[in-house]
Amino acid sequence: MLKIGVLVSGGGTNLQAIIDNIENGYIKNAQIVTVVSSKEGVYALERAKRHNIEGVVMSKKSYSTADEYYDALIKHFEDRGVGLIVLAGFMTVLGEKFVKYYENKIINIHPALIPSFCGDGFYGLKVHEAALAKGVKVTGATVHFVTAETDAGPIIIQKAVEVRDTDTPEVLQKRVMEEAEWKIFPEAIKLIAENKVKVENGIVRRID
Ligand code: GRF
Repeated sequence: MLKIGVLVSGGGTNLQAIIDNIENGYIKNAQIVTVVSSKEGVYALERAKRHNIEGVVMSKKSYSTADEYYDALIKHFEDRGVGLIVLAGFMTVLGEKFVKYYENKIINIHPALIPSFCGDGFYGLKVHEAALAKGVKVTGATVHFVTAETDAGPIIIQKAVEVRDTDTPEVLQKRVMEEAEWKIFPEAIKLIAENKVKVENGIVRRID
């Protein structure tokens, strides 16, 4: 059984998609054992509570150094036997110490087709604003393993989403979530729980 720890900072719709796909049996051999939020009062914590999943707040700024924060997070996950860490709308940067410790065991979702509209500064609505400003006709979402460089780790799954002339950043954000994020995040976790992905020289390969 793969034990999953989810890191959140907001509404948690991606967390919800993962919970739903574990409960409906699409993702097998996996359970979410803890949800860690960077902030108090976010709706993602409420979602965890409703499904009887532990929810805690651990905020980087309440530790005197980044290393102390990473040590506390590592201890929290180790104590629970976590084997996969899922960043689901998590807004805190995780440094080298943490990502090296969990190499190829941390995944993130980014609401664009990496390497477009990604990296430092591209988060939330800004990603969709940039896509519309460029006039791309297709955007999408990417699930990738996390390395110390923002949005640069090995790509696991991508899904394209059409951009329409009438889109606002908010409308496009919603379509990318509905048509891509909520599907490919559970799909990536399913593949990992079934040991169907491996990373070779920075490239993800499927094992069938
Ligand atoms: C999503 O758009 C995700 O791609 C990005 O942050 C947002 C989180 O939304 N990394 P939610 O908290 O899962 O609803």
